Amino acid sequence: MDTGSKREEIESQTDLKVRLVQDADLTRVIELDALVTGVAKDTYWHELYARHRQRSEGEEFFFVAEGVGALESTLLGYVIGEVRAWEFGSEPCGWLFALAVRPDARQMGVGEQLMTTLSDAFRNVDVTTMRTMISRDNHLFMSFFRSEGMMAGPYIQLEKDLKP
Ligand SMILES: CC(C)(COP(=O)(O)OP(=O)(O)OC[C@H]1O[C@@H](n2cnc3c(N)ncnc32)[C@H](O)[C@@H]1OP(=O)(O)O)[C@@H](O)C(=O)NCCC(=O)NCCS
Repeated sequence: MDTGSKREEIESQTDLKVRLVQDADLTRVIELDALVTGVAKDTYWHELYARHRQRSEGEEFFFVAEGVGALESTLLGYVIGEVRAWEFGSEPCGWLFALAVRPDARQMGVGEQLMTTLSDAFRNVDVTTMRTMISRDNHLFMSFFRSEGMMAGPYIQLEKDLKP
């Protein structure tokens, strides 16, 4: 992916659009994820996208943000969610399980617009609670999600080391 700074171009944009992911976006989503996480996982993404394609209209929760005008083909970020019901004794709830904004497009509201779009999509299917999970030491995500109104929820995560 073009990792050269697009900050000035992006800052000069007055708008960006958030829309459902399309086939042509997948390569750029995979590249952005690899850039942000440092781990390339093509198979994971292709399987996830295949599952997304099977969803009915109105129940798709995989969105991308892209610039408009000159930045039409620049993928600025993505968010992915899913509605899960009755697991862990929980009523239907919308999980946000992946979110990333390209490094040179951050702190300009892209992440917030992605969150807003996902929240609206959950509300449209009558889901009124959104959850996510973050690493304890991920201060960036903590600051971002707190600013978006997310707080500690009623569940705690437990785990056990299964190595022999
Ligand atoms: C977290 C992330 C999505 C935020 O996206 P963003 O577009 O920069 O966020 P926004 O510009 O919409 O910021 C919204 C609010 O979040 C908070 N925030 C965002 N970046 C912040 C930072 N670096 N430090 C502190 N607060 C921050 C602020 O409160 C901000 O509101 P403000 O601009 O009015 O102060 C982005 O930094 C990112 O992609 N990080 C990497 C995530 C990752 O590792 N994903 C892969 C695994 S799922």
